[in-house]
Amino acid sequence: MGNNRIVIFGAAGFIGFHLASALAKNEHSELVLVDNFVRSEFDTDFKTLISRANCKFIEADARDAQFLEELIKPGDVVYNLVAFNGTDNFYEVPSDVISHSALTGINIARVCATKKVKKYYYFGSSESYAGGIENSWVPLPTPEKVPFVISDPSNPRWSYAISKQIGEMACYANGSQYGLDFLIFRIHNIYGPRMGFDHVVPDLIRKFAQGNGTVLGPDQTRSFLYIDDAIKLILELSIKSEAGDISETLINIGSDAEVRIQEVADILKSLINPALELVSQEAPAGSVARRKPDLTLLREYLSFNPLSITEGLARTKQDYFQNNRF
Ligand SMILES: NC(=O)c1ccc[n+]([C@@H]2O[C@H](COP(=O)([O-])OP(=O)(O)OC[C@H]3O[C@@H](n4cnc5c(N)ncnc54)[C@H](O)[C@@H]3O)[C@@H](O)[C@H]2O)c1
Repeated sequence: MGNNRIVIFGAAGFIGFHLASALAKNEHSELVLVDNFVRSEFDTDFKTLISRANCKFIEADARDAQFLEELIKPGDVVYNLVAFNGTDNFYEVPSDVISHSALTGINIARVCATKKVKKYYYFGSSESYAGGIENSWVPLPTPEKVPFVISDPSNPRWSYAISKQIGEMACYANGSQYGLDFLIFRIHNIYGPRMGFDHVVPDLIRKFAQGNGTVLGPDQTRSFLYIDDAIKLILELSIKSEAGDISETLINIGSDAEVRIQEVADILKSLINPALELVSQEAPAGSVARRKPDLTLLREYLSFNPLSITEGLARTKQDYFQNNRF
């Protein structure tokens, strides 16, 4: 990190906002934040962040290679958190999903490479190998080195996964051709305040607050990591990486505490509406039954003690209620 200018693409989104907020606390850092709000809002939280003296905001489409050429400078540290996520979008607007998610992964990596940035951080996804879990080609817990799997290219559900695969591949391609110095964080189920409604935790918070006790896929499991823990890991890894202390190009970020969706629902019910009757329904089509990263590599670099799911859910629920996010 040092004194280099930091450019964050996707800064108005869930993780991008929390990452930028943490980095902006250092008043000596110079931050350039980019987003086009295709998947986020220009809300009070974001307005407060960009009012800081060390933050400059640019509303722009990060697919635009000409814009990237003008923006990115040699020596920058660049975080690419752009994506067009959301299960409904995978089916309803898969062309938009693949365009925003893949073109940004290709173009940002290439311009970072040719401009010789100091470091390029790409935010990959467990979706890249999710098809392999369905087919038992990928082990659980899942280490970093596993095959990418697209189960059925004719099913638009995979438009996001293939885009995230391309984003990772673009790092290796530009590393090989232009010597791009990069690190991929492969992200697994982060949750916390201001995360929208397209994920299971805020979806349940909103439904339970409205008196709807429907729980989709209660027997599925996920390994949830609270956002503050995720940001801490990302910042610590960035410092080590920029100091040349990390030889890896890809590190899993997540929790290895596997939790059933039923448990998440039970905790949220007790926090929001203890009298609510929960009704189980089938999981959304195509969602994997289990997800659990192997964190051996991460723990070689850092020791961490993640927040319990009970405490993390309580903090998330409090944020949604206090800030009236419904
Ligand atoms: N949240 C998770 O648990 C999770 C899990 C796996 C991977 N990831 C990855 O981490 C990154 C951040 O995830 P998130 O949950 O914060 O997502 P998010 O949807 O909240 O944020 C993504 C941001 O990118 C912006 N964006 C999309 N297309 C753009 C474009 N063309 N130009 C400029 N901005 C654009 C959106 O408006 C949004 O603000 C993504 O790359 C995602 O694939 C997140």
